[in-house]
Formats: sequence, C-alpha cells, structure tokens
Amino acid sequence: MEPNQLNQSNKLDQYLKTLSLHKVREIYLSEAESAARTKLSYQDYLLRIVEQQIITKMDGSVNRKMQIASFPQIKRLEEFDFSYQPKLNEKLIRELAALDFLNTAKNIIFIGAPGVGKTHLAISIGIKAASAMKRVLFYTAEKLTEELASSEVSGQLNKKLDTLSRVDLLIIDELGYLSLSKQTSRLFFQMISKRYEKGSTIVTSNKPFEEWGEIFNDDTVASAILDRLLHHSYPFLINGKSFRLKNINNNA
Ligand SMILES: Nc1ncnc2c1ncn2[C@@H]1O[C@H](COP(=O)(O)OP(=O)(O)O)[C@@H](O)[C@H]1O
Ligand SMILES: [Mg+2]
Repeated sequence: MEPNQLNQSNKLDQYLKTLSLHKVREIYLSEAESAARTKLSYQDYLLRIVEQQIITKMDGSVNRKMQIASFPQIKRLEEFDFSYQPKLNEKLIRELAALDFLNTAKNIIFIGAPGVGKTHLAISIGIKAASAMKRVLFYTAEKLTEELASSEVSGQLNKKLDTLSRVDLLIIDELGYLSLSKQTSRLFFQMISKRYEKGSTIVTSNKPFEEWGEIFNDDTVASAILDRLLHHSYPFLINGKSFRLKNINNNA
C-alpha cells in the first residue's frame, strides 16, 4: 500500500468506527478486492457492504429482543407436532404466528391439562414476535404477580404497570397453578386493564374459565379480568393427550 493510501484507509477505519459501522469496517477491504476482481460497479459494492451491515444489525437487535423476552426455553412452531393434537385448529395457530393479532391487540388463551403444549405454543409465537422486532416479555404468572406485589411495596407500581403496558406481547404462563390473594388479584386486574386494547397478551392456564374465580379468590375480579382478556381474543381449549406421556401412551 502507498503511504497516501495507508493514511486514507486509516482515516476511513476511524470514520467507520465513529459511525459504529463495524461490519463495513471488517469487510470493506476484502469486499473491495473481490469487487475489483469481479468488476462489480461502485454502486453494487456499496450495496453489498451496506447490506452486510444491516444484516448484522438486525441479527443483533433480534438477539437483544430474544434476551429481553426471557423465554425459559427455545420452542419453535416448526417443532410442534399438530398430529398429536388433532382437535387443535392448526390453521388458526399458523395464522396467529403471522402476528396480525398484535396489530389489533388481540389476546390468545391456551387452556388445557399439563403437557398438552400450551407453553410450547406460547413460546413459539413469542419467538416469531421477537424475530419480527416486537417487544416481548415471558413471565410465569407467579413471577409476574410477585413483581407486581413488590413494586407496590416499593412505591413503583405505576412505573411497573407503565412498563408492562408498553410491551407488544406479554406472555403469562401457568396462570392457575397457584391461587392469588385478593390483593395480588387486584394488581393483576390493574395490569390487564392497562393493557386492554393496547397490547396483546397470551395466557396459558390449566384451569377452565369457570374455575378462574378460585384462582383470583374473588368472582367479581375474576370476571372483570376475563371480560377484558376475552373481549378480543382467540381462546383455545386443548384437550388432547399429554405430550410428556407420549411414549407411555404409545406403549399402552
Ligand atoms: N404437539 C407437540 N409436539 C411437539 N412437542 C410437544 C407437543 N406438545 C408438547 N410438546 C413438548 O412436550 C413438553 C411439554 O409441553 P408444554 O408446552 O410444556 O406443556 P404445557 O405447558 O401444556 O404443560 C415440552 O417439551 C413441549 O415442547
Ligand atoms: Mg406449561
């Protein structure tokens, strides 16, 4: 390299660093060589390196969205065996995975016995949403209500409710395994009210709606919560066999 060129590439290096165009910085020299070899136009060369930068940026942003979402496991829709739940509306699930429901702040509710795939389906739709750059949060009902309760104690409840209301997709897993105190149920209601018609929520529960009064220890609060959750919603009752017992069922 000529001294003048060296100086130029040093400068370029510095500028790309300042602009955080790290991918361009990494590849522009080798891409320039290959562009010269293949007689790529200036425009196509620029397009190539900018595209690489965009891909890197998108990957990084999706990874961040996935991390923030805090999925307990990675479960994909592609791994879900619909033939094992023949009564489940596969077409509708696939439509929902295309994420239109997020634009209209509709909710999804999966009700069913343990092992029928509620958490799997919730996570896989959550992953689709995070991959589409939506703000997603995965919570167990237990952790969510604990956080709501402790934010109230520390005087941060409004802040917490604000944060939760700005999430595009909130997943609340395992509602009903534990019943909530009247106080916590009230906080849960406030959270659902705040998100009502603003953002989508996916709830999974092992309890049919008729038993939600027991979850919330209060029929009035339970029906107020159900009212808002169900108003614009896709409820699924999954009543097939448990996937966890698949091999046992097969051997039976
Ligand atoms: N139809 C299915 N196809 C593939 N895997 C499934 C299916 N249903 C459940 N599973 C798997 O079985 C296990 C239990 O499912 P999970 O979604 O946790 O059930 P639930 O939340 O309803 O108790 C998980 O490992 C999940 O990935
Ligand atoms: Mg589950």
